[in-house]
Amino acid sequence: MTSPSYRIAVIPGDGIGTEVMPPAQKLLELAGTRYGFSFDWQELEWGCEYYSRTGRMMPEDGIEQLAECDQIFLGAVGFPGVPDHVSLWGLLIPIRRAFRQYINLRPVRLLAGIESPLRKVPAGGIDFLVVRENNEGEYSESGGRLYRGMPQEMAIQESIFTRFGVERAMNYAINLAEQRKGQLASATKSNGIIHTMPFWDEILRDLAKDHPNLTVSEYHIDALAALFVLDPARFDVVVASNLFGDILTDLGAAIIGSIGIAPSANLNPEKEFPSMFEPVHGSAPDIAGQGKANPLGQVWAASMMLDHLGHEDAGRDLIAAMEQVLTETDIRTPDLGGTATTDEVSDALVTAFESLS
Ligand code: NAI
Ligand code: MG
Repeated sequence: MTSPSYRIAVIPGDGIGTEVMPPAQKLLELAGTRYGFSFDWQELEWGCEYYSRTGRMMPEDGIEQLAECDQIFLGAVGFPGVPDHVSLWGLLIPIRRAFRQYINLRPVRLLAGIESPLRKVPAGGIDFLVVRENNEGEYSESGGRLYRGMPQEMAIQESIFTRFGVERAMNYAINLAEQRKGQLASATKSNGIIHTMPFWDEILRDLAKDHPNLTVSEYHIDALAALFVLDPARFDVVVASNLFGDILTDLGAAIIGSIGIAPSANLNPEKEFPSMFEPVHGSAPDIAGQGKANPLGQVWAASMMLDHLGHEDAGRDLIAAMEQVLTETDIRTPDLGGTATTDEVSDALVTAFESLS
């Protein structure tokens, strides 16, 4: 049997994206050696520096180039001088939409060896998944600006919720919950947002009728955010719109110890197109170039990519290596209270990976 080789588009991007990418690639290589597959890396220097040279975040045929790849592995984009809506709408959002990556899956799990900033959370006390709708919702191009610079200046931003788009995200979340504890929490705000959010709730109630064993709870987003802090153990799978999911998962990252750890998978569940794996964090210009970036979020994203490729055993090994470093050493970056550099954590991860039996 020939061993598979995966063509992976690698977009380190900007800032710390370029620092956390090499350690994750190194561990992926080691995982491939152990489990009998390999990677054909397509390194792409797209992002804000590319934008400052060319006026585009990626080349005109960027999507076509990516379509030739099996998966996309991204660091982070964004840098002072380039407006954030340019970096987001010039790269990430077109990729998510062109490749129907309509699920953004974000685990919120407290790893062994990490203390949550919340008091009284035992090891394993936070373990849930956020399913964020990733293609529509509040992140829409519909709307406009009028009377710029005049006293009557105004802006309108419209949300787009389609039955098709909401149903497919919810069906994905329902299916996940059924494979776990059978509990689905939905983020709504149907008291204040009176068109899209009641529609969101109705669709969920309709779908839930066919899943009598599933426990479905609806929470207003503000109360839900408070419960992430007060009682995170109650959650199993949380389904949320694009904006709500985005905000909730930065909070999720905070309660599991650091935004530097949390991973994110932009999934095309049908596997008709490449999916994209990235850490939740951004390019962190405040610490870029200082060797302080935590590589764990990028490595966890690598583990999710392995899962999606069908190498769950290899994906588990990457998590095991992270937990081994966190439980058996005090090698960690400053965001986790340590003094280690990105390279020192990376070396420790390699040693831990190699010691796994
Ligand atoms: P950020 O996630 O880059 O940083 C927030 C805070 O967390 C900073 O204090 C940073 O130092 C710290 N941090 C983030 N990742 C870390 C890591 N791996 N290790 C240690 N500390 C870490 O978010 P911010 O500051 O809002 O955005 C900075 C830039 O990144 C902006 O241009 C923004 O648009 C972009 N961004 C890009 C994203 C992406 O590419 N998917 C996601 C979020 C932001
Ligand atoms: Mg975010």
